[in-house]
Amino acid sequence: MTAPRLAPPLAPLGVYIHWPFCKSKCPYCDFNSHVRDGVEQARWRKALLAELEHAAREAPQRRVETIFFGGGTPSLMAPETVGAVIARTRQLWDTAPDVEITLEANPTSVEQTKFAALADAGVNRVSLGVQALDPAALAFLGREHSADEALQAIETARRHFARYSFDLIYSRPGQTPDAWSAELDRALALAGEHLSLYQLTIERGTRFFAEHARGGFVLPGEEEAAEMFERTQARLEAAGLPAYEISNHARPGAACRHNLIYWRYQDYVGIGPGAHGRFADRVQAGETKRATRRTSGPENWLEAVEREGHGTVESSAVTGQDRVEEALMMGLRLADGIDRALFASVAGADPVEALGEAKLAPLVEAGFLEVDATHLTATPAGRQRLNALLERLIA
Ligand SMILES: C[S@@+](CC[C@H](N)C(=O)[O-])C[C@H]1O[C@@H](n2cnc3c(N)ncnc32)[C@H](O)[C@@H]1O
Ligand code: SF4
Repeated sequence: MTAPRLAPPLAPLGVYIHWPFCKSKCPYCDFNSHVRDGVEQARWRKALLAELEHAAREAPQRRVETIFFGGGTPSLMAPETVGAVIARTRQLWDTAPDVEITLEANPTSVEQTKFAALADAGVNRVSLGVQALDPAALAFLGREHSADEALQAIETARRHFARYSFDLIYSRPGQTPDAWSAELDRALALAGEHLSLYQLTIERGTRFFAEHARGGFVLPGEEEAAEMFERTQARLEAAGLPAYEISNHARPGAACRHNLIYWRYQDYVGIGPGAHGRFADRVQAGETKRATRRTSGPENWLEAVEREGHGTVESSAVTGQDRVEEALMMGLRLADGIDRALFASVAGADPVEALGEAKLAPLVEAGFLEVDATHLTATPAGRQRLNALLERLIA
């Protein structure tokens, strides 16, 4: 008797849903986020479900491991919309029993009242945009919530969700390394299994960009910023939440699985205005990566979906060296580095062979990269200057 042949396991898939609305626009933020008076929730729900169905035709036969509601401010979504998207995802694809379902939430008191309903809808992980624990810093960052509301939101999140994380922005004007260390200690006392800690960046096109250009505020100098980054790494490591990516820290096993899909260059589909997708395209001979992008204006997107069933403005194949470079830019962010075998399966080539000895050897010698039989890894010094490192690698 021959043993029954087992079907090959389905490739993992992440599903990203973009909600493009916020109560107000923060002066540092260049995300695709917009302020609108009234949002027709039922109309948006219908459109998100339609584009989800389109995505299931683009990337069929996968197993959904993660769903991520990002924004914008997805905690402004009607919980019924969140529930409907989760339920339809489960109908369209096979879904892992331990599927991770994250929603980004702003910590205002109104949004906290929705946490129970969002948990009932199926959300099991929340990522809170706390940004600062200092009232003056929150005012500078133009946030709609107070420090007390943020503390309350962390407490409410802890009660309703199996997993929670929060974001802080540091290297702010006037912030010293000592002040940041003290804030970090307060954050650690409130933290669960995960923290995202971002250095403030001044993005073109934001209000901060114009204010900074005309001298309205001054950022900490390079040395002070580097000191704050290094203290962050050391303090979090000592507290049992080492960095697993440049700005993300977690207890062992508690990394955000959805973001790991991006950094490992695995498959994900993007739903909603401006959302990107990357997934193996088995239609084409030899399997390439397909890159998709939806139109970013909320109203344009809504009308396109109502007309055509999706808001795609770009769908192209990423091949050859481009695929290797994209995968490299993502993978070198990870503290564990690039798993060479996994990289070869998603990017079509072994990274060490694709880059070649001549490029790698001087960077290994200088202490920015490490190579062994299974991994290619940027060292902490390499990760701190990742852009410069990537320029050398993909020049
Ligand atoms: C999509 S955004 C925000 C989600 C949510 N709307 C909020 O504000 O809490 C994700 C995170 O990126 C970070 N971020 C956005 N712009 C930034 C910037 N210019 N510099 C540093 N961090 C930034 C913030 O910490 C933010 O919480
Ligand atoms: S930081 Fe968050 S709340 Fe502020 S504008 Fe950006 S997405 Fe909206």
